[in-house]
Amino acid sequence: MGVGVSHWRLARAVALAGQRLGARVLGVVSGTGLPIMLVNRLQAGDQDAVRALEAFHPVIGREIMDEYLVEGPQDANRRCKLPPKPEFMVTGNKRNKARMMRLAVASAFVEVWLAKEGHSGPIGINVLEKIQLMHLPVLLGAMMAGVDHVLVGAGIPHQIPAVLANFAKNEPASYRMDVSGSTEKHQLTLDPREFVADGKSLKRPKFLLIASHHALAMRLSSTVEVDGFVIEGPSAGGHNAPARGKQLAEDGQPIYGDRDKPDLSKLIDLAKPFWLAGSYGTPERYAEAREMGAAGVQVGSVFALCDESGLREELKQELRERIGAEALEIKTSATASPSGFPFQIVQLPGTLSDPCVYESRERICNMGYLVEAYQKQGEGISFRCPAEPVDEFVRKGGSAAETAGKICLCNGLGAAAGHGYMTKRGPEPSIVTLGKDIGFYGRLAKLHPAGNFSAEEVIRTILSGLSATG
Ligand SMILES: Cc1cc2nc3c(=O)[nH]c(=O)nc-3n(C[C@H](O)[C@H](O)[C@H](O)COP(=O)(O)O)c2cc1C
Repeated sequence: MGVGVSHWRLARAVALAGQRLGARVLGVVSGTGLPIMLVNRLQAGDQDAVRALEAFHPVIGREIMDEYLVEGPQDANRRCKLPPKPEFMVTGNKRNKARMMRLAVASAFVEVWLAKEGHSGPIGINVLEKIQLMHLPVLLGAMMAGVDHVLVGAGIPHQIPAVLANFAKNEPASYRMDVSGSTEKHQLTLDPREFVADGKSLKRPKFLLIASHHALAMRLSSTVEVDGFVIEGPSAGGHNAPARGKQLAEDGQPIYGDRDKPDLSKLIDLAKPFWLAGSYGTPERYAEAREMGAAGVQVGSVFALCDESGLREELKQELRERIGAEALEIKTSATASPSGFPFQIVQLPGTLSDPCVYESRERICNMGYLVEAYQKQGEGISFRCPAEPVDEFVRKGGSAAETAGKICLCNGLGAAAGHGYMTKRGPEPSIVTLGKDIGFYGRLAKLHPAGNFSAEEVIRTILSGLSATG
């Protein structure tokens, strides 16, 4: 869960709980926006990040600390230094390219290394196919830290298996980047030997495709090596697949129909494990998934509300109270995400779901993760995002109509996880995403009247579904 909701602490807590309960449970760190989190932590003097960087690389780890680490008393009003934008890995000069690449590799290493520290439970990393610029450094950093699974959604990630195979052999990998308006091949490349001693191999993690439908699972597994599938329905938190019918309800939410439903028998025919996601975080639905042939379930929303999640404490508290009072609405926006995918948005005053907050935010684009590469008129490529300042987007060949209602998820989700940027006008507002089905939270809250519960309690409750049905 990005950005920073399933950070290393939550993923580690999940994997540890699985070990304690004797169950096969995978803790997954979000691979989105990791450089932002690493530089923020370093500027807050975070000693876990320091330890992990020391384990990463003696020279590069030190270089990053020299640039960002702030030790000693903290000034709450200090504006944090931002990392370079990912696009510098393509458009930057030699120094900036190397700086961003090293930081990106290091940030993924740190997240996975900390999540895996002190136990032998499995840890995965999730990346969004849309954020192609970051794939090579994030996958390399995660593999250097021994990541067990790579889970990729939000697109057709057919190039990932080859990258994993090459990095496992400590050989350079490349990734063809989509560039709007260009017919040329634009390859991103990364040679792991800058980071990994020559002759040393890395473990190849298992590759799980996140898809909404059996058709994509069948298509991908017929061409590349896929180890399993997460089949995610339209009620899941975060981004969802577009509805096949493209129809919208009066309130603008996509209408999903029978054509959007996966045929699980086709998945079973593929003879690979699959997990079901989207409203499966209950004992009953877990039992149901297992009965239908799934290896298990993938759960997000209820973990986002648990004690160890990276959501800002006061936001988490407010969400818990509103769910307890049955006063929380979650709507799927077909247009808000710059990625073009539908996105679940919690309707919460004071966040970007509130039209007043949205209108009063000055558009800035200072993070640059969810960008689209495009062919510039004349020579070269550049990057744009429909949530950036409108005149900038139009100058880059985008249409003003496309910018309407777009939300800067880099800043908004970062702010919700305590990594908000402080602008001259004040802190960036948050945006919160959760799945449509939060009823389960109410059940946990009844068991825990103070409203708080741990990741382990979530897992124990869900697993009880199987013992209840035998
Ligand atoms: C706060 C939040 C952030 C999420 N971010 C991502 C993400 O970055 N990538 C991804 O593949 N899925 C993301 N998801 C989806 C979850 O990984 C999971 O599939 C989903 O939450 C399962 O359905 P549920 O919300 O009903 O539990 C997110 C979900 C939540 C609640």
